[in-house]
Amino acid sequence: MVVVGGVLLAAGGTTAVLAQVLPTAGRLGFGGTGSVGAEADEGFTEPPVRASKGGVLETVLEARMGPTRIAGRSVTTRTFEGTVPGPTLRVRRGDRMRVALVNHMDEPTNLHFHGLHVSPSGNSDNSFLHAMPGEKLDLVLDIPTDHPAGTFWYHPHLHGSVASQVFGGLAGAIVVEGDLDQVPEVAAARERLLVFSDITLDGAGRIPAAGMMDAMNGREGELVLVNGLFRPRLTLRPGETERWRLVNAGGARYYRLRLSGHSLLQIATDGGALSEPVSVDELLLPPGRRAEVLIQAGLAGSYELTSLPYDRGSMGMGMGGRRGSAAAGVPVALVTIVVQGDPASGVLPRTLAPLVPVPSAAGEVIAARREIVLSESMGPGGMRFMIDGKLFAHDRVDTRVRLGTTEDWTIRNATDMDHPFHLHTNPFQVVALNGQPVRPVGWEDTVNVPASRSVTLRVRFRDFAGKTMYHCHILDHEDRGMMGVVEMT
Ligand code: C2O
Ligand code: CU
Ligand code: CU
Repeated sequence: MVVVGGVLLAAGGTTAVLAQVLPTAGRLGFGGTGSVGAEADEGFTEPPVRASKGGVLETVLEARMGPTRIAGRSVTTRTFEGTVPGPTLRVRRGDRMRVALVNHMDEPTNLHFHGLHVSPSGNSDNSFLHAMPGEKLDLVLDIPTDHPAGTFWYHPHLHGSVASQVFGGLAGAIVVEGDLDQVPEVAAARERLLVFSDITLDGAGRIPAAGMMDAMNGREGELVLVNGLFRPRLTLRPGETERWRLVNAGGARYYRLRLSGHSLLQIATDGGALSEPVSVDELLLPPGRRAEVLIQAGLAGSYELTSLPYDRGSMGMGMGGRRGSAAAGVPVALVTIVVQGDPASGVLPRTLAPLVPVPSAAGEVIAARREIVLSESMGPGGMRFMIDGKLFAHDRVDTRVRLGTTEDWTIRNATDMDHPFHLHTNPFQVVALNGQPVRPVGWEDTVNVPASRSVTLRVRFRDFAGKTMYHCHILDHEDRGMMGVVEMT
């Protein structure tokens, strides 16, 4: 008999209801546009790890267009260090990261450390820098000693080519270790990293050029990958507990995650630990966002981690028609979870609270309240995406804030499509939705702003002066102008 903890296992105790029936053609299969030969059910693997030693992580990230393996087949795409995703960078609070970005591609690039609270200036997390073909950027990042523990990621950030470079495979995870890792139940769980990305490949294993629709909606690939694998298989013992770090490293696809027969105990979001764990049946992960969950395997059987349909309001062929995105209609299978073998001994308590105290920004003095409007219009070269009516300009400062103050930003989406709003350098707490106050759950750096709605963020501008960016994390929208510059002085 299997003993399973209360909150984590939502199934009614039989395996029969758990296997989810999923379509085998269309978005999951390869009947569509010439993609061929992906093999389902590969074993689950993770990207190589580069961990800091003695307070320093020194590593090279070589970007090149070249051969790699994705979904079990040989493809030619852009990679860091030859793999998709690139290596996982693992550091502790207070560490120094020395990353040499070497550009072996025939196009300029650069590197951003998404979600890290580090300097955005000089040769740190500076998205204004660029490495021309053949050039190297020596980046040095000092992780503050009070940096939250959590899951972050890195990707290129050169305006105009972010979507094509990230879609091609240039992305990797960053893990910052700290207090959350010391919570006994968290420390006891086996840790896994799941980086979600998607890609479209032609018969020759190359990425076809993006079309007009891709540019408008943000490109979504036909192949949905976890750590570069197509529907990998993960084996657990009954009752075994794992901690999953989830990263949406795609440029446009939303994941509405569900694990059949199980609930997910969310312990962290973008900016680290939640103030208390939350048991959820589904988890929405817009582009750029991360989450950490504990799962406890149920009874022996086979389960699916699936992305359920989500309508983000993509535009259809007729323009203006709110047709729903191509991916809106069909669940996408991500990972097959096989539960078998002897029951594991560990049993999770019903709650993990308190996790790590999350400082609340409630009650702080608000130095300024701003409204930031996301809009779109039809231009000569197709759809233009804007912030406050303006296309991105790297030499213009759109918003000036005082270092050391706290501000409320209401992000208003004046379009018919969802936009995931992201701010660099300083995380925020969501304090209102559509003007209605909500209780913040933790620190975030990327939040979905649904079509025609607003989200109010409370941001503390702390520690680092300089210019940084905010933008839509549908990377085609960012490339087409939906980005602004904030200067902190
Ligand atoms: Cu994930 Cu400005 O980026
Ligand atoms: Cu970022
Ligand atoms: Cu957008």
